[in-house]
Amino acid sequence: MITRRHALKTTAIATAACATILPALAADTNTPIAAVPTSTAPFTLPPLPYAFDALEPHIDAKTMEIHHDKHHGAYVTNLNKALAGHPDLEKKSLEELLNNPHALPETVRTAIQNNGGGHYNHSLFWQMLSKNGGGEPKGELARAIDKYFMNFTGFKDELTKSALGRFGSGWAWLVIGTDKHLSILSTANQDTPISLGLGAPGTTAGADALKGRYGTNLTHTPLLGIDVWEHAYYLKYQNRRPDYVAAFFNIINWDYVTDRYQKLAS
Ligand SMILES: [Fe+2]
Repeated sequence: MITRRHALKTTAIATAACATILPALAADTNTPIAAVPTSTAPFTLPPLPYAFDALEPHIDAKTMEIHHDKHHGAYVTNLNKALAGHPDLEKKSLEELLNNPHALPETVRTAIQNNGGGHYNHSLFWQMLSKNGGGEPKGELARAIDKYFMNFTGFKDELTKSALGRFGSGWAWLVIGTDKHLSILSTANQDTPISLGLGAPGTTAGADALKGRYGTNLTHTPLLGIDVWEHAYYLKYQNRRPDYVAAFFNIINWDYVTDRYQKLAS
């Protein structure tokens, strides 16, 4: 188990980014992780696992630099500020902070949901993208997508519809429930799918349907997410969110998504 007050340092950058928020998944890899103290703050900004211009022409370098260094960086800074003075909360993992927001003190609940959610969502997002991405998944994930969405086109259409239907800022997700069922849903602002199990925020599209099907105690974990905040695309695409979402499918890191699926579905 990774000590909460220790940042991660490893030669495998992607593994370090993953381990920052998902120590359980990181423990499944064979990559040794050396924990070294670099800060007294509970959470640190994981490095981008590729160069700022790696996703050109689909996402431009300046957008990636501002998105990672400034926006994600601010979520981490403000999460640490919200936790300061709450030693009981500082000991918790990011997942523990987010998966039951109603258990958080009211004075810091919104700050932790917004900034902790921003840290969680973006830490995953960088790894879900690759300059060698795109195409379609293979193997078990491909068969699961066919099972729940008819085929890849059905999946792509539903995720696109969710991304374009999100009013204002938020995310569209492919998630897996604890019953292994795959679903598409959209969350507002920096709400995360892992917060849905014990009472979804009222603005989360799809949450009511999930509750109706499973009750309120089923946990959903994201496999793939599209950030549809304007900060993710405005420099290149301005108001053309459909063009950004279409380009997103050219850089999906299906190897990473498939690896997450296999670990969570097994
Ligand atoms: Fe973002």
